[in-house]
This record gives sequence, C-alpha cells and structure tokens, in this order.
Amino acid sequence: MSTYYSRKVSILTIIVLYLLVGVPAWYKLTSIFRVKLPVHYIQSLNDNKFQDVHMVLPIFIKSTIYKFPDIDKAVQTQINYLLDEQKQVIPWSLQVSQYDDELMESAKKHNSSYHVVELILDDAVGLVLSEDEDKTIIFFDDESVITNDLPYFIAQTVVEHAFKLENESLDKLVLFSRAIYSIPYSPKVHLNMFLLNGDGDPISWEIDSVLKTHFTPMRDFVSPIVNFTVDTSILYYNDLGLSSLANTSNSTSENIISKLDSLSITKLNDVRDYPTLNFAIVFPSKESFPGGVSFINTQTLDTSEKVSDVKKLHSHNRTSWESFLIPKWGSVIVNKYPIEKNGVLNEEFMVSVINAFSNNLLKLLGFPTALKATDNATISTFYNSLNSYKRIVTLSNMDKAVTTLHTLSTMLERFQNMPVPQEVQDDVIRSLELRLEIVDILNNPEIGDSLTWNKVLVMSNELVDLTEKAFFNQEMIQQNHVPREHKLAVYLPLLGPLTVMIIFSLMNNINEETSGEANKQDVGDEVSITDNSEIELIPEDKEDSSSTSINEDH
Ligand SMILES: *[C@@H]1O[C@H](CO)[C@@H](O)[C@H](O)[C@H]1NC(C)=O
Ligand SMILES: *[C@@H]1O[C@H](CO)[C@@H](O)[C@H](O)[C@H]1NC(C)=O
Ligand SMILES: *[C@@H]1O[C@H](CO)[C@@H](O)[C@H](O)[C@H]1NC(C)=O
Ligand SMILES: *[C@@H]1O[C@H](CO)[C@@H](O)[C@H](O)[C@H]1NC(C)=O
Ligand SMILES: *[C@@H]1O[C@H](CO)[C@@H](O)[C@H](O)[C@H]1NC(C)=O
Ligand SMILES: *[C@@H]1O[C@H](CO)[C@@H](O)[C@H](O)[C@H]1NC(C)=O
Ligand SMILES: *[C@@H]1O[C@H](CO)[C@@H](O)[C@H](O)[C@H]1NC(C)=O
Repeated sequence: MSTYYSRKVSILTIIVLYLLVGVPAWYKLTSIFRVKLPVHYIQSLNDNKFQDVHMVLPIFIKSTIYKFPDIDKAVQTQINYLLDEQKQVIPWSLQVSQYDDELMESAKKHNSSYHVVELILDDAVGLVLSEDEDKTIIFFDDESVITNDLPYFIAQTVVEHAFKLENESLDKLVLFSRAIYSIPYSPKVHLNMFLLNGDGDPISWEIDSVLKTHFTPMRDFVSPIVNFTVDTSILYYNDLGLSSLANTSNSTSENIISKLDSLSITKLNDVRDYPTLNFAIVFPSKESFPGGVSFINTQTLDTSEKVSDVKKLHSHNRTSWESFLIPKWGSVIVNKYPIEKNGVLNEEFMVSVINAFSNNLLKLLGFPTALKATDNATISTFYNSLNSYKRIVTLSNMDKAVTTLHTLSTMLERFQNMPVPQEVQDDVIRSLELRLEIVDILNNPEIGDSLTWNKVLVMSNELVDLTEKAFFNQEMIQQNHVPREHKLAVYLPLLGPLTVMIIFSLMNNINEETSGEANKQDVGDEVSITDNSEIELIPEDKEDSSSTSINEDH
C-alpha cells in the first residue's frame, strides 16, 4: 500500500514539475521577444513624409539711403503671392522682416549669418548675389519706387535667385536629382590623392604645403556639410593604362575616360564604410610616350580648369596637363610629358592642379551650382546656395530615414518569427523624436541663421544613422537565423517522450485505481507491470535527450 502511495506522489510530482517548470521553460525557450513599434505612425509618415513640415525661412531687408517703413510687408505680400502659385510638395515660405542690427551683430559674434537683401539706389534696376556673404544685393532707381514696382522685383529676385534651390526642388517628390557623376550624400568622404609615374624613377611632390594653403580654405568652407579624410601616396610603374592610348590622337575626354584602364582605376579603391573619391596625377612612361601624350593639347586646357597663371604654366612644357572627371570615382590629371628622374612637382604646378581638383570635387559631391564653375566663381556662386543645400540635404535625409523605418516595420510585420529586441524599439522611438525636433527647427521662423542649418543637417545625419542602426540591429539579424520552427524541432524529441510517459503513467494509475477497487488482490501484479513500463520508458527518454543534444550542436 505504501509503494502504491509513493508511486502516486511521484507521478503527481512529475506532473507538477512538468506544468510549473517544463511549460514555462519551454515557452521561454521557444517564444520570441518582440517589442511593439509605432507601426501606424510610421505608416502615416511614410504615406506623407512631410506632413508636418512647413519650412519658414527668415530674410531681412536692409535699405540704407531710403527708409521704406512698410517694405517688409509689401515684399511679404508679393512673395506669398508667388509661392502660393506653386505646387509645393514640401511646403515652404519666407518670412520678411526689416533689417535688425542687434540680431545681425549677435549672429556675427557666433560666426553665423542670416540672409539679407540689401537695397541700393542706382541708375537702373538690377541684382547681384554676393560673392562672400549670404546676401542678395538689389539695385533700384527712383522710377521703380514711384511706380511701386520695387516690392514685386524684390520678391521675384529672392524667390527665383536667392532661394533658387528651394524654388527648383521643393515642388517635386524626388528631392535630389543629382548629376549622374555625383556620389550620394555622405557627411564623411575619404580622398585618396595619388601621384602615378609610368616609370620607376623616384619623384616627389609638394603636396602637404599646398594642401594646407590651397585646400584647407575650401575644406573649412564645406565642413558643415562634409568632412574629408585625406591620404596621399606615390605609385610607380602605374599609369592607369594610359599606354594603351599611345597611338590615339583624336581622343575626346569621354573616350579617354572610357579607355583609361578601368581595372587599374578600381584597384586603387580601398574599402571604407564611407565613400572614397580619388585624385590622380598621372605621368606617362618615357617608353610609351617619348614625345608626350599626343591627345593632351599644350595650347588649350579644359576651360573649367583655367588657372590665373596659365601663361606661366605654358612657359615650360613639362607642366602641360589636362584634367578628366571620372563619374563617381574622382578626377584624373594627365600630364603631357613624362617626368624626369628625381623630378619635383613644385608648388606652382601643385596649386593649379589642386584648384582643378577642387572644382571637380564639388561636382562629384553634387553641390548644386558648382557646375557653372569658372575659376573663382565656383565658390562664390556656391556660397549663396550653401544654406539652401544644407536644407535640401536635411529634407532628403528625413525622407531616407522615414523610408528606412517603414521598411523595418513592414519587414517585421511580414516576418512574425523575427525577434525584436528592446534596443530596436529605443532606436526607433529616439529617431522619431529626433525627426520631430528637426521639424520644429525647420518650421520655426524665429530661427534660421547659417548655424541653425549646420545643426539641423548634423541632426539629420544622426537621424539616418539611428534608423540604419535600428534596421541593421545585430541581435535581430543573428536571431533570425534560428527561426521558431527550428527551435520546436529541437525541443520536440525531448518533450514528446516525456509527455507520452507521463500520460501513460497517469492512465495506468487511473486504470489501476479503478481495477484496484474491483480486485485488490491483483495489486502486486499491476505494480510489476507499471514498474516495467517505467523501466522501459526511461532509457528511451535518455536516448532521445542524447540525440537532442546532438541536434542542438548542429
Ligand atoms: C569665429 O571665427 C574666428 C575665425 O575663423 C574664430 O577665431 C572665432 O573663435 C570664431 N568664433 C566663434 C564664436 O566660434
Ligand atoms: C521659381 O519661381 C518662379 C516664381 O517666382 C517661377 O516662375 C519659376 O518657374 C520657378 N522656377 C522653378 C525652376 O521652379
Ligand atoms: C565636420 O567636423 C566639424 C568639426 O569636427 C563638425 O563641427 C561638423 O559638424 C562636421 N560636419 C558634419 C557634416 O558632420
Ligand atoms: C603604337 O604604334 C607603334 C608604331 O607606330 C607600335 O609599335 C606600337 O605597338 C603601338 N602601340 C599601341 C599601344 O598600339
Ligand atoms: C579617330 O578618328 C578615326 C577616323 O576619324 C576614327 O575611326 C576613330 O574611331 C577615332 N578614334 C577615337 C578614339 O575617337
Ligand atoms: C614647348 O612648347 C613650344 C610650343 O608650345 C615649342 O615650340 C617648344 O619646342 C616646346 N619645348 C620643349 C622643350 O618641348
Ligand atoms: C575672382 O576673380 C576676379 C577677377 O576675375 C577678381 O577680381 C577677384 O578678386 C577674384 N575673387 C577671389 C575671391 O579670388
């Protein structure tokens, strides 16, 4: 009777263990940790990415000779009229105010500035976009004041010229129609500078001092938008396959670019997690080009590569070169003549070459007006659109970030088995908050100096990083390789026999109890049977668990 009782207890214990430990453990091991994402909000953002954006940009009107007390209101009316006529996909407007000395001074103290429209009395009506400031200068005559045409002229100038980029970009869904040769925007770009010699004779270049004096100003200038890391190196017995062009005389830049050995060009690229642009000065080998590269013309340089001292350059033929822009890769400068042994590229040569490279660099980075580059106008026309460029990059970053979030959330909807760690939720929430912070700044007419646009651009770069971090979450990606079906397959061989064993023992026990009541003398026999079945079952279970551990190893 006591064995019967202890058997009952042991079965009960197994059932209790099974329910209290086994089931929760099984649930824990096979269930998937998924946090909730604000799916509906992300969906609605994706449907209308700029639903909460209405960019308000402040401009200030400064008039020195005449005081126009109501000019700001008159111009505002005209600007509103012009902007209302547009089909704005991303809403934007300008807020016109009178020039405010105090505000301008305080901005200046922080090396910042606002867009100023300066009115100057002159013989005729005209306009100039300032070359070294974010400023539009409008010339007016007395007649334009009498006929009251001035406000309309100002409004038109500001919308069409000073805010040209906004005027052109914000009525489209595709924000950036980048030139085909430009690389996608990245806050960090690596520059590889090569000096290539087709021969093995040692040569050198005054790269460091020239970079400091002639590249640093431009580098500082664009640093709110993109920062560069720079490597320089000299390679020998490499002319980018130039020698295969030895007998070509009628080459245009297109077929030179296509013929420059694409293999040796890509070989120069190293692997980084941000884009690389290359800049190579190539000297042909004496063997292939004893008389110089025939298609490089000594008389005319590429018009966009003119330098102020072109005459001096031509005074010695050694420094005749031509520059070629290679889409998405960089820029190659081919010198007409081979370089002598121990030749030194002096500062004069290097300055002209670096200027040419800077022009091409702006094109490759996709800066808006760099295309119209003439020697020093590159930076000046470009100055005026710099803040516009920052705003457009910011908006396109926001666009990109929302797309990433939406892709993430639809992916998680599709793959219900994919675990979603807490970190992903944190990143998603943080990026949605950051996006709203950016929207607040864009929409606020009170803030809008150049530092604001720097800040907003940096925030939007962070936003893109954050959404990509959420999307490529390490834990999420790794766990996805062990889907739920696989886990079940691992645990089922273990759980199955255990369950079967318990159910059988339970049934035996119940049978025994009912039959035991009918025939109590047979108890001894029944015990031996149940004992047997238990003895039989236990090794089976052991077998299974060992095979399970093998499975798990796989
Ligand atoms: C402004 O720029 C000048 C020169 O570039 C620098 O010396 C100064 O520290 C800057 N001021 C601020 C507030 O950043
Ligand atoms: C810019 O704005 C003016 C209105 O001032 C409009 O006539 C013109 O077509 C716009 N340009 C572009 C490229 O959208
Ligand atoms: C470039 O570096 C400067 C100084 O470290 C920083 O202030 C600026 O935000 C950086 N630019 C971008 C686009 O991240
Ligand atoms: C160029 O022409 C010369 C003779 O005219 C020939 O020896 C040489 O192989 C040619 N080079 C190439 C790359 O075709
Ligand atoms: C050079 O001109 C000849 C004849 O005009 C033409 O057949 C050849 O394709 C041209 N070569 C290049 C590289 O354009
Ligand atoms: C330099 O070029 C001029 C014409 O451009 C030519 O007359 C002269 O011979 C060249 N000098 C050398 C050393 O090649
Ligand atoms: C640009 O070139 C003009 C002459 O073409 C010159 O007067 C001016 O000083 C130059 N500006 C700069 C910033 O070099």
